[in-house]
Amino acid sequence: MGRNRFLVTGAQGFIGSWVTRNLLDREHEVIALDVHSRPVRLSLLISPEKLKKIRFVRGDINRFRQIKKLVEDCAVSHVIHLAGVQTPECRAKPILGAVVNVLGTLTLFEAIKACKDQVKCVVYASSGAVLGTDEDYGSHPIGDDAPRIPGTLYGVYKATNEECARIYWQDEGIRSVGLRPPVVYGVGRDKGLTAGTTLAIKAAMLGQPYEIGFGGAVNVEYADDVANSFIACALKAPEGAPVYNMRGEVLEVDDMIAVIEDIFPLSKGEITCAKQRNIMANDVSDAGLQSLIGPLYPLSYEEGAKRTANLFQTLLRDCRL
Ligand SMILES: NC(=O)c1ccc[n+]([C@@H]2O[C@H](COP(=O)([O-])OP(=O)(O)OC[C@H]3O[C@@H](n4cnc5c(N)ncnc54)[C@H](O)[C@@H]3O)[C@@H](O)[C@H]2O)c1
Repeated sequence: MGRNRFLVTGAQGFIGSWVTRNLLDREHEVIALDVHSRPVRLSLLISPEKLKKIRFVRGDINRFRQIKKLVEDCAVSHVIHLAGVQTPECRAKPILGAVVNVLGTLTLFEAIKACKDQVKCVVYASSGAVLGTDEDYGSHPIGDDAPRIPGTLYGVYKATNEECARIYWQDEGIRSVGLRPPVVYGVGRDKGLTAGTTLAIKAAMLGQPYEIGFGGAVNVEYADDVANSFIACALKAPEGAPVYNMRGEVLEVDDMIAVIEDIFPLSKGEITCAKQRNIMANDVSDAGLQSLIGPLYPLSYEEGAKRTANLFQTLLRDCRL
């Protein structure tokens, strides 16, 4: 596979770290942009030697001149855009949320517009939060073009980005793919409403009690699978600005807890969940995504939780947790 030069925004974040790791594994070059400069999550996933292969750039996604210069000077061929703030922060600070999530995405598209013949595709993180709940839809599984009914400002910002991307294709011919990850879990997930899907595994390993902040059914996907889909979409660089649902495994949080108890039997009874249900639609179809990048075989939570537990145990043993 030929080497491509990827700009990853939000590369110090959870999904950004997995995307960066997987790009390096495939011998692509990575320019890692983030407001934070310490590779805290990346260090959990890759060796210090591999870290040296990354070109780290500290910067704000809203700095148009810096982003444009970076894309031009580094001859960026593909962009994976993950910089953003999560649901709780958008709720607490709506203006900050809009500035980073909406204006930041617009700034990125404007920077790419200035060198659009050079950048083959931008794949950006939308979210399953653009949809309503399962009950809002008469027809299941819910398709990519089902009406967006976001129930949070965060979801509204993500829906806006999908519309902006459509206009950048229409007016400027910029190819993009919007991916709507469900609840993503794996080592490095440490914040956001649904981080309990990972933090409960860590707590069980450490022998600590933990309450997952929601109950009911949830669509969960392992970070490695999510990262691979982002990369595959970027390399496919389809015409247009499609948006795709993502689907991992839909299971009850109670069943998730049973999986964790199987891995760490001493945690039995220590991991619980809140009564409040996760409000995102779970029964989504990822047929659109599969038609672009081929068949997907998402890891079960059982297997993903085992891998997460193994990695946590290794990090603990090596005093790197
Ligand atoms: N984690 C999930 O389950 C999930 C689900 C659906 C969608 N998403 C979306 O995927 C993307 C990545 O999510 P994540 O879980 O890795 O989040 P994260 O919070 O771990 O990472 C986001 C990164 O963006 C960086 N960032 C914030 N503001 C910035 C700015 N102004 N300029 C540059 N960088 C900035 C942060 O420092 C952080 O490293 C986000 O857009 C998120 O909304 C995540």
